[in-house]
Amino acid sequence: MNTSRADAADGDHSMTSPAPDMQAKPHIQVPPHPQWPAMSDADRNGLKGRIAELLRRQNAVLVAHYYVDGDLQALAEETGGCVADSLEMARYGTESDADTLVVCGVRFMGETAKILNPEKRVLMPDLGATCSLDEGCPADAFGAFCDAHPEHTVVVYANTSAEVKARSDWVVTSSIALPVVQHLAEQGEKIIWAPDKHLGHYVERMTGADMLLWDGACVVHEEFKGFALDRVRRLHPDAAVLVHPESPDEVVDQADVVGSTTQLIKAVTDMPNREFIVATDEGIFWKMRQLAPEKTLIAAPTAGEGATCESCAHCPWMAMNALSNLERVLIEHHQEIHIDEDIRQRAVRPIQRMLDFARERGIGARGKSD
Ligand code: 13P
Ligand code: SF4
Repeated sequence: MNTSRADAADGDHSMTSPAPDMQAKPHIQVPPHPQWPAMSDADRNGLKGRIAELLRRQNAVLVAHYYVDGDLQALAEETGGCVADSLEMARYGTESDADTLVVCGVRFMGETAKILNPEKRVLMPDLGATCSLDEGCPADAFGAFCDAHPEHTVVVYANTSAEVKARSDWVVTSSIALPVVQHLAEQGEKIIWAPDKHLGHYVERMTGADMLLWDGACVVHEEFKGFALDRVRRLHPDAAVLVHPESPDEVVDQADVVGSTTQLIKAVTDMPNREFIVATDEGIFWKMRQLAPEKTLIAAPTAGEGATCESCAHCPWMAMNALSNLERVLIEHHQEIHIDEDIRQRAVRPIQRMLDFARERGIGARGKSD
C-alpha cells in the first residue's frame, strides 16, 4: 500500500457517510498506559536470559509486532522468533514448528494465530490488550449490518474479533487491503468494509470501489493532526512524510508514502531522504533505528498539549506487553487464547483466503510489496 502524495490527493475527499442503518457506536474505554518498574541493565539482561531459557525449554517462539517495547522486539529476534506487521505475524505462526506461539501485540493478533494454528498453544503477556477497532465493532451489531446488505461482499480488517472474522468473506491487513479490494472491485462486487473508516475511505479513494464503511477508528492514529503536520513539514522541507492509513484524510493527504508498518520501515531504508516525519505508533522507531541508524526520525504531531493517553502516539494496549508479564505467562500459562471451534472454522476461511492471495501475488515480507 504505497502511494505518492499526488496519488492520494486525487479525487473526491469527502468521507462516505456512514450507512444509514449503522448502530450506535459502542463506548470504548481507553486504558492508561501501564507504568512498568524501571530496571537496571543487569536486571533486564537477567530477565531476558530467563525468558530465553523458558522459550527454549517449551519449544516456544515470540511473535512480536513493531509497536511493542524495543526490549521485546530485540528478544524476539535474539531467540529466533519474529518481529513483523500483522500480515507477516499471521503467516509466521503457520510456518513455525514451535509448539507454543507467544504473541506480543494485541488480542486480535493472538486470536488470528490460534485460528490458523489450533494445534498450537497461543499465549499472550496480557489478554486484556485489545484494540479500539476491535472493540468498536461488536459481532452482533456487525452481523445485523451485514444481514441488512446481503448483496455485499464483507471485507474486514484483521483488527477484529474472531466472531467478526467468522462473519466475513475476506480478512485483510493494511499490507494487502488495496490489492484485495481492487481485485473485488474489478469483479463488480459491492463491499462492506469494517471497522476502520479512515483506512476504508483511503482504500475507497484509491480503488474507486463501491464501499459501505463501518464507523470505527484507531484511537492512536486518529490523534494525528493535519494542520500540525503541515507546520512540521515546513520546518523540515526535505523530510519524507510516512503515514499509516489508519490516520485521517488530512494526514494521509500530506504523505509521501502511505503504508503498513512494514512498508513504512522499508521506506526509511530505501528512500534517499535523511529525515522522515512518521505518523504511526512510536514503537516502530525501534526497528527503523536498527535498520537505518543514520536517518533522523521525527514523530508526527498529535493533539499536543493537554493530550490524553490516546494522543501520545503509543497504543495503550500494545504497551501492556512487557518483559515481566512475558516471563510470568511462560511460567503460569494463565493468558492463553481459546477460540470456539465453530467460530474458528468459519474465521479461518477468510484469513486463509488473504494468505493465499498474498502468496499468489507475492505480497508480504518476503514478497515484492515490501
Ligand atoms: P500493520 O498491519 O500495518 O502492522 O498494522 C497493525 C496495526 O494495528 C496498526 O495500528
Ligand atoms: Fe488498534 Fe490502533 Fe492500537 Fe493498532 S494502534 S492495535 S489499530 S488501537
